Parts: sequence; structure tokens; C-alpha cells
Amino acid sequence: MNVEKLKKMKGKEKIVMVTAYDAPSARIARDAGIDVILVGDSLGNNVLGYENTIPVTMEEMLIHVAAVKRGAPDAFIVADMPFLSYQTSVEKAVENAGKFLKVGANAVKIEGGEEFGELVQKLVESGIPVMGHIGLTPQFVNRFGGYRVQGKTEKNREYLLRSAKELEKRGAFAIVLELIVEEVAKEITESVSIPTIGIGSGRFCDGQVLVWHDLLGLNPDFVPRFSKKYANLYEVILKALQDFRREVKEGLFPTEEHSFTDKSKGGVSS
Ligand code: KIV
Repeated sequence: MNVEKLKKMKGKEKIVMVTAYDAPSARIARDAGIDVILVGDSLGNNVLGYENTIPVTMEEMLIHVAAVKRGAPDAFIVADMPFLSYQTSVEKAVENAGKFLKVGANAVKIEGGEEFGELVQKLVESGIPVMGHIGLTPQFVNRFGGYRVQGKTEKNREYLLRSAKELEKRGAFAIVLELIVEEVAKEITESVSIPTIGIGSGRFCDGQVLVWHDLLGLNPDFVPRFSKKYANLYEVILKALQDFRREVKEGLFPTEEHSFTDKSKGGVSS
């Protein structure tokens, strides 16, 4: 996969993107034939235990992007620019985005609408492919006053449409549409020539993205209404750990099969 192939998928084949934050997950995503792996700044709430994405740093993101690259060296990897890594100056943004490419990302994603058009152009001119992200942009949650569905007012609909067109004009290769009413997401998708990838934005986007922990059911407390639990890994992992605990307590593990004696042959692999 590359930027040009992805752009050509619009109108022909739905794009599938998933977040991943570590090497083993990236390998599974690659083996499943996922088109794009997003190392999202949702790393903050899903892996690092933060309340939201605001505290996530460049250093944390770089460690996880590099891990994902090691797990799936041939995958198409998009790195999320974390809060304040691109908002303060173009120079800082280019420098930070460049760091992601140096550790193996193929592109970066930035949250924000038309006001980031010039920045997108500078990044693209510097050789850094950019995926846009409009609608509910979690880094701006404090300005939005909560996680609210976007595109409900005429003013907001017009802003989203203008933003999508501006990002396209400035060279973005795709745009994430997050939590936008379906009708407006459809209108945006039809009004730009680059692919839109929806999350909570209905049926008519050019692709869909879900967050690893939501789609695999790793969080027992909360699944957003727009997501779908394709597995309940919380239950699977819980049961495995309970079984392990019980077997150790009862002396059932390890058995001879898992033990080494001076007559054992071979190495440690099974
Ligand atoms: O960080 C993330 O996981 C994202 C997706 C919700 C698109 O930006």
C-alpha cells in the first residue's frame, strides 16, 4: 500500500483502517489484510491510562510507531501527531512529522480543519504525506465542550465541507471524518476526490476506521455506540488468567511437559 494506491481505491474498494499501538498487534493487523494501520494518539486512553489524548507526547508516540513498524515492516503506517506537536509553528510541525517518518511511518495524521491548510501544504511540500481529520477532533475536546456529534447545524456543515475541500487542495491524501452526521459525511465524501475514512460517520464514507480496543472488546466498561465489538477479548483474557492462577494454586501447572530435566532435548520452543 502507498498513498497513490490508497487514493485510487476511492469509489472502487472500501478502505479499512485500524489503530494499533505495538508490534504483535501490528503483525495481526497486517496478517488480516488491513489496508492502513493508524498509530492513533488514542494510545493515551487505550494503552497509557490517560483520561484523553491531550497528555500524549511525541516521545510516547515515537516509541509506539517504531514498535508497530517492527511488527509490520511492510504495512502502510500512519502516525498521529499528538497535541501541541503541530499547532504551535510550521517549523516544529515539520520537524516532529519528520521524526515519525524516520522511525518508519509512511504518513502523519493531523486533527483540524481549514485553519490548518497552510500547514498541510508545508508538510506535503517537505515530503510528508498527510491524512486530515475533521469532525469531532478529540484534541480539541476542551473547545468543543465534550464529545459531540458534528455537522448538525448549517454553519458547522459548511465549515466541514470547506475544511475537507481545503485539505484536499493543500495536498492531503485522505481525510478521517469522525462523529459527523451521516448526511454531511456523505456530502463531504462526494465533494472531494480523495478518500474519506469514517468513524461514527455513517455508511457512505470511502472507508472505515475502528479503534483496536473497541473492536476487540478489550474495554469492559465502555464501547462507543458507533463502534462494533467483533470479539470479547476482555472475557477471553480474563478467563485465561483465571485458569492460569487456579492451575498454579492447585499445583496443576507446570507439568512434566513444561519442565526441563538433565535429559531434556532441544531448546525452549515448543
Ligand atoms: O487516535 C485515534 O485513534 C484516531 C481515530 C479515532 C481515527 O484518531
